[in-house]
Amino acid sequence: MVVSEPIKMGFIGCGNIANSHMNAIERIPEIEIVAGADIKVERAREFVEKAGAEAYFTDWRQMLEEIELDAIDVCTPHTLHMEPTVAAAQRGIHVFTEKPMATELEECDRMIAACQDAGVILMVGQVLRFYAPHIEARRIVSSGQLGQIKNVVRRRWGYMKDVPSEPWSGDPELSGGWLLYGMGSHAADLILWMTDSEATNVFAMGRQINPSWDDVDEVTIQMELANGAMALQTHCLNCYAHAWDLAVNGTDDGLYVNGETLIVGGEEQHVPMQEGGGMYTQLAEFASAVLEGREPEASGKDVRRTYALLEAAKLSMKEGRIVDASQL
Ligand SMILES: NC(=O)c1ccc[n+]([C@@H]2O[C@H](COP(=O)([O-])OP(=O)(O)OC[C@H]3O[C@@H](n4cnc5c(N)ncnc54)[C@H](O)[C@@H]3O)[C@@H](O)[C@H]2O)c1
Repeated sequence: MVVSEPIKMGFIGCGNIANSHMNAIERIPEIEIVAGADIKVERAREFVEKAGAEAYFTDWRQMLEEIELDAIDVCTPHTLHMEPTVAAAQRGIHVFTEKPMATELEECDRMIAACQDAGVILMVGQVLRFYAPHIEARRIVSSGQLGQIKNVVRRRWGYMKDVPSEPWSGDPELSGGWLLYGMGSHAADLILWMTDSEATNVFAMGRQINPSWDDVDEVTIQMELANGAMALQTHCLNCYAHAWDLAVNGTDDGLYVNGETLIVGGEEQHVPMQEGGGMYTQLAEFASAVLEGREPEASGKDVRRTYALLEAAKLSMKEGRIVDASQL
């Protein structure tokens, strides 16, 4: 679908992350925000006013019906990404959707197929791929400097006593598992992208410890990767000892990333986040891909492996067995 500049974009969901996207888009002249839809009318109105646009809606279907759009940006709760993506694709509209792509692999497949059939771009907001320290770490891993990759660990541990401000995160109907799909989708994607691999055997355990969550609030996923490495991602909302880091070990060397600190070969380096941060870089990538008519980084097709891994983890937690993600 050929698009000329500026890309006319409509937002679906005008909450927290939509506002971060709007701030990032201020630096991207190739995108013009022309409309916004949110079930909370005040949010939609304030959002479009701030964006310098006029058209706001409480029903995204009406927005697709009435406004001429080149692209949508889906920023709704987790389980509400598939429907607008498919509806927009069927109208020839390109799609950027926040992570997770969806909370069921079958829905991811429907999104990929709809966008492929319509010849429109589907990009998923796997923003960690766009952080400068991660880009540098991946460059080192791909260069072979660490040797053959054998082991990867990604931790995100924190303490969150109460469900965050938006009640949907504690509601499995809307979150599809907030910890697994909210935090887990970032970590799963980082591991697979960093190692350029996919998951095979997956074993996951989840626990519900804090009664304010109507869902598991601690999850650990152990996996084997197609390249032979072992990997672990671990997430916790009840951990007094915080951690938010990545370790990659190979036959010759290892690296460790924590924020903007990268340690490789025993040497500590500071790798600053690029100007505008990951949010800006990923939306700029979406704009270039739409204008150039090419597949973007973190396309729906590419991140399917991430959601196969999460589907396997979900099944594993439910059934207490090892699940082969490569068969899903
Ligand atoms: N990349 C990141 O680091 C990051 C950070 C935060 C959130 N996110 C993702 O962004 C998405 C939204 O999260 P958030 O924190 O902005 O949540 P939020 O609650 O702040 O915003 C979601 C908005 O969607 C609206 N909404 C709900 N149902 C709707 C519908 N049917 N039609 C239109 N609007 C509807 C809500 O009223 C709300 O304003 C989630 O998928 C989340 O995982 C990503």
